[in-house]
Amino acid sequence: MLNLRFERDEILKWLGEPDPKMLAQLFAAANKVRAETVGDQVHLRALIEISNHCVRQCGYCGLRAGNLALYRYRMNSAEIIDCARQAVAMGYGTVVLQSGEDPGITAPRMADLVRRIKSETPLAVTLSLGERDAEDLVAWRKAGADRYLLRFETSDRQLFNHIHPPSPLHPDRLSDRVGILKQLRALGYEIGSGIMIGIPGQSLASIADDILLFREMDLDMIGVGPYIPHPATPLGKDGVKPDLPADQQATAEEILVCKVIALSRLACPEANIPSTTALATINPINGRELGLQSGANVVMPNLTPAPYRALYEIYPNKACIHETGEACNRCLAGRIVALGREIGVGPGGRRSS
Ligand code: 5AD
Ligand code: FES
Repeated sequence: MLNLRFERDEILKWLGEPDPKMLAQLFAAANKVRAETVGDQVHLRALIEISNHCVRQCGYCGLRAGNLALYRYRMNSAEIIDCARQAVAMGYGTVVLQSGEDPGITAPRMADLVRRIKSETPLAVTLSLGERDAEDLVAWRKAGADRYLLRFETSDRQLFNHIHPPSPLHPDRLSDRVGILKQLRALGYEIGSGIMIGIPGQSLASIADDILLFREMDLDMIGVGPYIPHPATPLGKDGVKPDLPADQQATAEEILVCKVIALSRLACPEANIPSTTALATINPINGRELGLQSGANVVMPNLTPAPYRALYEIYPNKACIHETGEACNRCLAGRIVALGREIGVGPGGRRSS
């Protein structure tokens, strides 16, 4: 059994470990901790991508405002409620409402929608709507929202600032996602964060810091996936200048993603950790399974209706882009059962059950 003390050097050593035999031990240890703490249930979170409008200019994301080639949509409340009902019919315990940073999703309208889902269904509601003002987060929590996802993407402040220009709504203010996560926690949300792996300019050492930060923040949910270049973004076109020696640059490979999932599980034994769509995108054959066998205990089937799904192109060739909600449900259920795991029932929160 691995005896990790969570010192930075030790994490860094694992991130650079090339030996498959050693890595098999890491994955087995994480899988064991997963089984002992959160069990064999794999929770399904229905993802509804409610709007692809975005005011931000994140250097890597296909939804960035500067991508003028993208047709923009915003689902109306009736469409979203309809998806939530489908989620119930499919046996899911949670809906995740995700969008770009879209001021067209007003705080009162969103609060009303959350209130309706909470009163008309047994679903837990997770929001993933970007860096919103404190009063919006307060209103949505009051309306009954249970959880909020906001990845800090990297704890390397210089790299973060380089790929996240300020919001046009607050041009003088640098993003402070860790600060927002703390506000969310104080409001009583379960909080989720995470990172991309393999951002140009991202070092392995900074990923060790990210994992230490997951632990320090005692995150309830941790999402990690590979960075996938999008040609309509500055980072996807040109990258950033390769100022890191090749042996320090993190690569967007599945093995490194699985190492980070495993180390996150060992650092935060009780967290809910998804095997992400981005991991399934770089390995459609068994990416989902590799994540689930390295410490993950959640998957997020996409329930976004067909006409909108293809337009939520944060990166190209996203897994399941041409599937239906039913197809994703069948596909994931089959994969979970084939691994000898169980399909989770109920909301599956960390703090609620
Ligand atoms: N490649 C991989 N992941 C991406 N995300 C955004 N753009 C990309 C990309 N090009 C991730 C970010 C964001 C989440 C919703 O999607 O981590 O927080
Ligand atoms: Fe969508 Fe497999 S999860 S098709």
